[in-house]
Amino acid sequence: MKRSKSLLALLIVFFVMMLAACGQDAGNGSADKTSGTENEGGSEDTLRIGLSVSDLTLERWQHDRDFFVSKAEELGAEVLVQSANGDEAKQLSQIQNMLSQDIDALVIIAINSDALSTVVDQAKAEGIPVLAYDRLINGTDIDAYVSFDNVRVGEMQAEYLVEQVPSGKYFLMGGSPTDNNAKMFREGQMNIIQPLVDSGDIEIVGDQWAKGWDANEALKIMENALTANKNDIDAVVASNDSTAGGAIQALEAQSLAGKVVISGQDADLAGVQRIAEGLQTMTVYKPIKLIAEKSAEVAVQLAKGETPTADATVNNGKIDVPFIKLDPISVGKENIIDTVIADGFHSYDDVYKNVPESERPARP
Ligand code: GAL
Repeated sequence: MKRSKSLLALLIVFFVMMLAACGQDAGNGSADKTSGTENEGGSEDTLRIGLSVSDLTLERWQHDRDFFVSKAEELGAEVLVQSANGDEAKQLSQIQNMLSQDIDALVIIAINSDALSTVVDQAKAEGIPVLAYDRLINGTDIDAYVSFDNVRVGEMQAEYLVEQVPSGKYFLMGGSPTDNNAKMFREGQMNIIQPLVDSGDIEIVGDQWAKGWDANEALKIMENALTANKNDIDAVVASNDSTAGGAIQALEAQSLAGKVVISGQDADLAGVQRIAEGLQTMTVYKPIKLIAEKSAEVAVQLAKGETPTADATVNNGKIDVPFIKLDPISVGKENIIDTVIADGFHSYDDVYKNVPESERPARP
């Protein structure tokens, strides 16, 4: 009797756990999800925001989604999140689907900055304001653009490398060719590098773009570049941490990791760990909480029909878009603790996980 009672108790515990697990977000959140469940179905006066995410398989965007959703909820809105996981056509159909779900504002992290004008025009025709989150959307009438100073990001990457390697052979690893930011990073990188090319100090030995910011793509590009140059490369200007990660894998295979300077961006945990280990030279930290929370505030303002205050404008080929511009931060081995760790973006233990205790800097 006692035995069957405890079996029953065990079964109940098991079912409760199963139910709890079903209610949880899968983590990468690729599935559709509406937050603020007490307003399920969208009660009449609850603001509803659609957030179309480019690709939740990249570490960076998971942080963006989390901070955005919690700020929007704090401001009383509910958020419908969808991720296209790098598929342009999927992003279009997801946005169309959101437009039929009674949203008050649409926030888009674009996969292809040039391929969204039709769907944005459709949103505008339905009276739904549109915010371009981190990546500009070209050729259409968007209401606001919240991002970091992306040209400055590119300058920071090149400045850091040039300081360490003022002359030599440079390889340029661009990001996704359809992402407007990738072009702005390159513009910033060339602001620093071009004068040194002109003076004959730097030679550019290759220049390629990694489709979808994909690490495997970057790995292949780097392998080929090393072969073509007989491993004679001094610096790699990689535009973000996922492409830097792929390139570093190729460098490792030739025992060159840590010898060739290489930039990155996003302060992804993997990127910062590589910096701590001496495999990657720098990254650019763009406080994600800042952009996500600012964007949530702007989205709520737009949803209420208010006009957000902008710092500048940026022309997208059609209009001068109000630009809410945020400052990026350069991160190398020397300031990991004062930046990403001080901000709580990553923990000391996570960052120095692969570094022997005796070589770690003092715990803050
Ligand atoms: C860019 C963004 C970078 C990086 C990259 C890959 O648009 O500005 O921070 O995350 O996409 O996702």
